[in-house]
Amino acid sequence: MQSVGTISAKYARRFIRQPAHPRAKLAKMPAFSIYAAGTAVSKDPDRLFAQPLAQVPDFAFNEDVVRVFPDMIKRSVPGYPTIVENLGVLAAQFAQPNSVLYDLGSSLGAVTQALRRHVRTDGCRVIAVDNSAAMVERCREYLNGQDSMFQELLPVEVIEGDILALEFQPASVVALNFTLQFIAPDQRTALLSRIQQSLLPGGALILSEKLRFNDPEEHALLTDLHVAFKRANGYSELEIAQKRSAIENVMKPDSLEEHRERLLAAGFSKVVPWFQCLNFASLIALP
Ligand SMILES: C[S@@+](CC[C@H](N)C(=O)[O-])C[C@H]1O[C@@H](n2cnc3c(N)ncnc32)[C@H](O)[C@@H]1O
Repeated sequence: MQSVGTISAKYARRFIRQPAHPRAKLAKMPAFSIYAAGTAVSKDPDRLFAQPLAQVPDFAFNEDVVRVFPDMIKRSVPGYPTIVENLGVLAAQFAQPNSVLYDLGSSLGAVTQALRRHVRTDGCRVIAVDNSAAMVERCREYLNGQDSMFQELLPVEVIEGDILALEFQPASVVALNFTLQFIAPDQRTALLSRIQQSLLPGGALILSEKLRFNDPEEHALLTDLHVAFKRANGYSELEIAQKRSAIENVMKPDSLEEHRERLLAAGFSKVVPWFQCLNFASLIALP
């Protein structure tokens, strides 16, 4: 993360150390989930692509994926736990009183849970949106689990719907954590413009994505290193190959340069990368 010393006076006030939050008080733990860093999730292992498939279907966020998603994303996305937890930390610096914090493409609500752990600005509420019914159903269960574990969490609403059709309310934080890459490329600028228009002064979009690289050697190196990361996390060559062919038609990554240009074209004033691990990165975009 960017160090406090390099942040301009305009933003420095946000980084003043804050006292431990009373909402972090443990209430009680229900029996149906495990808790990693205070997050309610399933721990079913991802073996979806372990057996040879006659034909590999396009990847979908269906019930099979939902069952193994926490394990899948942690073993496939370098830096994912760091990004999610720090997304909560960053959001706390941008949250404005009485505003909405959006988690777009919320899946099982990992980001929503991090927002609720870290943001303590008065009157904030979280709206989590996903168009997968299976994800939304399980996300609601996990958030109920978080509610029974912790006291005085931010209120949250989980909406099953298309983020492209969402009517945005005035927001101080919008998280797009590995979601934009699943939106059709020709719809991305319009979505980002609508997000930019909904953001309040002092707010921010936090955008995390898999990257591609314009330089072929850099692209090949980081792709190989990502494969090594997956191997080290226990995925076989077959699993890696079948997952790749399942996802390549539905997930279209952009380069860092494309993200920056698109965000500026959508009206954002400043784009600041705050995290990169191999070919995965997260950016802060200021309205
Ligand atoms: C890679 S997952 C996001 C992971 C999640 N943000 C996290 O940090 O754990 C992408 C999610 O975006 C959702 N999604 C894709 N297109 C969407 C759309 N147009 N509207 C709403 N959700 C969408 C998918 O259903 C999926 O749950």
